[in-house]
Amino acid sequence: MTASATTPIIRPATVHDVPRIALIINSHAELGRMLFKSYAQLYEDLRDFAVCEVDQKVVGCTALSVIWADLAEVRSLAVEKSFHGRGIGKLLVRWAIEEARRLQIRRLMSLTYEQAFFDKCGFVVVPKESLPLKVWSDCVRCPKQEQCDEIAMVLTLHDLPVIEAPDATPTPRGVSIPVLDYAED
Ligand SMILES: CC(C)(COP(=O)(O)OP(=O)(O)OC[C@H]1O[C@@H](n2cnc3c(N)ncnc32)[C@H](O)[C@@H]1OP(=O)(O)O)[C@@H](O)C(=O)NCCC(=O)NCCS
Repeated sequence: MTASATTPIIRPATVHDVPRIALIINSHAELGRMLFKSYAQLYEDLRDFAVCEVDQKVVGCTALSVIWADLAEVRSLAVEKSFHGRGIGKLLVRWAIEEARRLQIRRLMSLTYEQAFFDKCGFVVVPKESLPLKVWSDCVRCPKQEQCDEIAMVLTLHDLPVIEAPDATPTPRGVSIPVLDYAED
C-alpha cells in the first residue's frame, strides 16, 4: 500500500537532516522551551535521533539517549509549530519507546515543561532526586542550572525483564565515571 502524501513517516536521522533538526529545536530553544543544540552536538549524537517527515519535509525530531542499563532519556523532542496537534509528538515518543524496547531498556525518562503531553504518552511524574546524577550532565549548558524548573517524568516498560544494573565502580585506572548512584537527597 502506498502511504498518502500527508502520512507522517518516522525514520532514523541522517546527516542530511541536521540543518532541519537544528532549525526546529533552536526555534523552540529561543522561546526557552528546550536547550539549544549546535551542529557539532547534533552530528555527535546523530545515531540517537529519529525524525518525522511529512511530504518529504522534516517537521519533527527526537533522540533517545542511553543513560544506564535500566534508563534512557527522551531528548530533543520537538515538532515544527505549524504541525503541532497532529499526533506527531506522540509518534516520535512511540519511536523512542520502541527503540528502548529494542535495546531492552526498561525505563524511559524526560525532563520537560510539557507534563500534559507526556501524561498522554503514559509517563508519570517522579521526584527529580530519584534520577541518577548522569542525567544532569546537560545542566552545565543550561542557563537555569540551580533554578531548574523542568518536571521529571518516567515511563516503565513493564513487559521487559528487570535487569540488575551494575553500579558505577571506579575504572581500573581509578577514575570514577560520572554516574555515581541514584541520588537520595
Ligand atoms: C511537546 C510537543 C513535542 C508535542 O507535539 P505535538 O505533535 O503537538 O503533540 P501530539 O499532537 O502528538 O499530542 C499528543 C497528545 O498530547 C496532547 N498535547 C500536546 N501538547 C499538549 C500541551 N501543550 N498541553 C496539553 N496537551 C497537549 C494532545 O492534545 C494529544 O492528546 P490526544 O492524544 O488526547 O489527542 C510540541 O508541542 C513541541 O514541539 N513543543 C516544543 C518543544 C518541547 O517543549 N519539547 C519537549 C521537550 S521535553
